Amino acid sequence: MRIDAYKEFFKAEYMMGPNCLRLLDELLSTYPLQFTAENRILDLGCGKGVTSLFTAKETGATVYANDLWISEEENRARFKAWGMEDRLIPVHKDARDLHFEKEMFDALISIDAYHYFAGAEGFFAENILPFIKKGGTVLIAVPGMKTEFDGRSEELLTPWLRDEAYMFQSPVFWKRILGEHPDIEEVRTWEMDSFDIAWQEWLGTAHEYALGDLAHFDSLIKPYTCFVGMMVKKR
Ligand SMILES: C[S@@+](CC[C@H](N)C(=O)[O-])C[C@H]1O[C@@H](n2cnc3c(N)ncnc32)[C@H](O)[C@@H]1O
Repeated sequence: MRIDAYKEFFKAEYMMGPNCLRLLDELLSTYPLQFTAENRILDLGCGKGVTSLFTAKETGATVYANDLWISEEENRARFKAWGMEDRLIPVHKDARDLHFEKEMFDALISIDAYHYFAGAEGFFAENILPFIKKGGTVLIAVPGMKTEFDGRSEELLTPWLRDEAYMFQSPVFWKRILGEHPDIEEVRTWEMDSFDIAWQEWLGTAHEYALGDLAHFDSLIKPYTCFVGMMVKKR
């Protein structure tokens, strides 16, 4: 399995939550993307760029690694150290105000980030879809609620997430929020399989935030939450 080649990144230095590479690997195994360096993929909310590295190496594309909390300089230095500066382009922009060329990207990936900025109706069609080429693919993974707890995130998760609890939503919510549009051919949302391994590998990093999460794992995180996978195909 290709993810075995990336085990050196499963540590507190690179991870910002449940193992993003497990989630990305599940998305790309379900919806494989094969490109050349002429093709462009946007990694939206890329954090420290390990998902961008994986995407560039596994799909062959050039990846625009966009993030808000991590600076362009910090990611550029990391990409250079990895010897990937030709294929990983760091960008520091708010996802709510992107200024790329229209239809610039063959695909978009976003891991554990989309829920921070995209939970409003119409956001996808207005702010994301215009940048994707015709026939392009969007693959997203976010933490969310299992379907049976749809709409109950603030009631159930506030002791863990405090004022961010509202961001956790079910596959049903995300399908509705991604919406319908004449340029959208297909939308699919689902509960992802890699929940357990992604969480166990994050808790195993001993990152200070992982230690905080551990206190809520058995009582709140495991019973109520999941990872929501999303796939959108542009017509
Ligand atoms: C939990 S981290 C995940 C980072 C990375 N995708 C990963 O899985 O390791 C969430 C990321 O979302 C990004 N983010 C949050 N709000 C954003 C916004 N409005 N625009 C762009 N990125 C945003 C943050 O900068 C942060 O790096």
